[in-house]
Amino acid sequence: MNPSIVDSSPFLYVRVVEEQQKVVKMDSKICSIPQEMMLGTGEQLFDHIAQCLGEFLESQDLKGQTLPLGFTFSFPCEQKEIDKVSHRTIIGGLLITKGNASDYVGLLVSSLGKLVASLGSLVDTLEMLLISLWMPVISLGMLVASAEMLFTRLEMLVVNVRIFEKMISGMYLGEIVRLLLVKMAEDKLLFKGETSEALLTPGQFETKYISEIEEPDSGLENAQKILTALGLNWDPVDACVVRLVCDTISSRSACLCAAALATISNRIRVNRGLDHLKTTVGVDGTVYRKHPNFSEELQAAVRLLAPECDITFLVSEDGSGKGAAMVTAVAQRIVEKYLEPFRLSLEKLKEVSVRLKKDLIRGLGKHSHHRAAVKMLPTFVRATPDGTEKGDYLALDLGGTNFRVLYVRVVEEQQKVVKMDSKICSIPQEMMLGTGEQLFDHIAQCLGEFLESQDLKGQTLPLGFTFSFPCEQKEIDKSILIRWTKGFSCSGVEGQDVVKLLKEAIHRRGDYDIGSVAMVNDTVGTMMSCGYRDQSCEIGMIIGTGTNACYMEEIKNVKRVEGEDGRMCINTEWGGFGDDGSLKDILTEFDEVVDQTSINPGVHTFEKMISGMYLGEIVRLLLVKMAEDKLLFKGETSEALLTPGQFETKYISEIEEPDSGLENAQKILTALGLNWDPVDACVVRLVCDTISSRSARLCAAALATISNRIRVNRGLDHLKTTVGVDGTVYRKHPNFSEELQAAVRLLAPKCDITFLVSEDGSGKGAAMVTAVAQRIGGLMTCLEMLVAF
Ligand code: G6P
Ligand code: BGC
Repeated sequence: MNPSIVDSSPFLYVRVVEEQQKVVKMDSKICSIPQEMMLGTGEQLFDHIAQCLGEFLESQDLKGQTLPLGFTFSFPCEQKEIDKVSHRTIIGGLLITKGNASDYVGLLVSSLGKLVASLGSLVDTLEMLLISLWMPVISLGMLVASAEMLFTRLEMLVVNVRIFEKMISGMYLGEIVRLLLVKMAEDKLLFKGETSEALLTPGQFETKYISEIEEPDSGLENAQKILTALGLNWDPVDACVVRLVCDTISSRSACLCAAALATISNRIRVNRGLDHLKTTVGVDGTVYRKHPNFSEELQAAVRLLAPECDITFLVSEDGSGKGAAMVTAVAQRIVEKYLEPFRLSLEKLKEVSVRLKKDLIRGLGKHSHHRAAVKMLPTFVRATPDGTEKGDYLALDLGGTNFRVLYVRVVEEQQKVVKMDSKICSIPQEMMLGTGEQLFDHIAQCLGEFLESQDLKGQTLPLGFTFSFPCEQKEIDKSILIRWTKGFSCSGVEGQDVVKLLKEAIHRRGDYDIGSVAMVNDTVGTMMSCGYRDQSCEIGMIIGTGTNACYMEEIKNVKRVEGEDGRMCINTEWGGFGDDGSLKDILTEFDEVVDQTSINPGVHTFEKMISGMYLGEIVRLLLVKMAEDKLLFKGETSEALLTPGQFETKYISEIEEPDSGLENAQKILTALGLNWDPVDACVVRLVCDTISSRSARLCAAALATISNRIRVNRGLDHLKTTVGVDGTVYRKHPNFSEELQAAVRLLAPKCDITFLVSEDGSGKGAAMVTAVAQRIGGLMTCLEMLVAF
């Protein structure tokens, strides 16, 4: 579709028939765009376009199909996304459902509205894409002639806009000639000093007159006819002068274009470090096509202005509509081949949710727990904060991006105020892979230095310990590490009580002591710290280096814990979902590689498709594959791109930034030593978008499963609840949270979920757990509840 041709817009049905190499079959229809519509409302225009497309589909008997659409929209647009339309179909694909015209128009207009919002700038991308894909074609930029009738009338009213265009393109050349002729007539140089009403009327000397008057043979004759038609009192000399004027104006236009084209060609040549560039430019537009010697003049000037560039001029056969279809086809090939496996439909997400639901029950089961992939670990947290907590607490927060030591004061009097001092301590990579003793000695040392700095060494304070790894909780202060995850793999800790290891390390130092300890998972800490602000918070979710969630389950369903009444917080450890092969059908070859090259193959399948530790690596592997398949970076890779871990997950957030994303992409690709072009940057952004989108949607499926479980547990038709969230991916990614929340609404329509981002991390939450435990009468009661498992 190309609404820019002068008061008409061709609709095309393009079939690219692979078998018959390079044959493109096309049916098209030109629809007029009335002048008043060009100056009317956008809604009117898009309604009109939607109607034309509808009639065209009818005429082609295509209404039943859902075809991807290439939309040539030849107006300056800011590129935001390659394909960001509501249905995420390939590059602006519209979901055209069966139904009557009004339906269709309604859908199309809203889709087109979205389409324009996201695809408005697709033209630039199309251009770029065409440039890189049909290298060395330089295309559409040359759409000099009929560009942008739609707004140009408006822009004529807008001074100092698109100056270059107003010296060159078909919209203006005629007017320049008219003004000159008026001036020369008024100066008694033409038409015996007389003008005419027509000549004095703006727009009356059409640009096509210039081409007709410059026709080698019939030009002068044409000139005379035109001057007569304009009601001018001309003589043969006048006709010659008018021809000279036309020649001058069109020649300037051709030369200016030549200068611009020479600039671009030279830039490409220099970009590639070439002495000589051989390239082709794809050209279209009425001035270039119709004017008798415009192309010749332009080409001659380019040869002078860019002598090191050997440029072939290829006039486009079927306009840019075919080009748009071409780009859609190419993008589709890219997407389908590489990205489609990452696109999970709502149906597939519902399937995943059903599988997880079974796993939750298996994990809670007394006899099925041990073989459950989703561990569903009892935490002995039986209540969430009610705002009456008080006291001073130490807290440790280990397992996320940063290891933190905190001093937390919950001041009851000043309702809901928690004072906190904290310090971030680094955990060196080698220590994450060293011995457990080294790790806990390091933790004890950091705590010691912090107590010193806070002048707290003399006090014995209760401590909340956020330890963000799967642990079998025996007591609130006794927790056995089941296995390490994320980047940790310290020896001598799995199967051990981590609270005991901490206490032993502190006692080895002997320079300070701690009081009672409460050990919590970061999801529990997050739920508790958010629960202090919003008492309806009953779910804690982390999407950071790792991913996980906890929630308040009915004790009667926690078969491994005694008791029928009340609730207990369950640490689901949903990261392990799929470790039993239940997600095989959605795992891609890239996920397999990430798992095999991780320090814990076969562990935390779900996490490795979602969390910050792995997303960057999935993108890297995809980019390497696409480069090796010559779809990116001209088939070249770089040492950095070939090195595991070099494409950091934070790059994904930076590249998907709404405004600066593409710029960031280019900086990152340069930093990775890649030979990129603008289309590569767009495709890299599409890859990032696809991978982060899958992550958000999988998290949504898991969260929807838990919320629905709570709703069903309580026999509710509708559940209103709050989830406390933390983690760098959720916090930093520009649209992760939005996408997750949108998918949860679709997957758990009977749950009204508020998302509360944790303010101070789960360190505060750990302090809260200690405070709540103290509030509801000490640790021991929990002990009696636990049957030795
Ligand atoms: C916060 C919490 C930590 C948690 C982390 C997860 O910092 O305080 O307890 O582990 O978020 O996110 P991250 O992106 O750091 O892994
Ligand atoms: C751990 C969880 C933790 C999550 C988020 C996972 O790898 O197994 O215990 O909650 O990461 O930090």
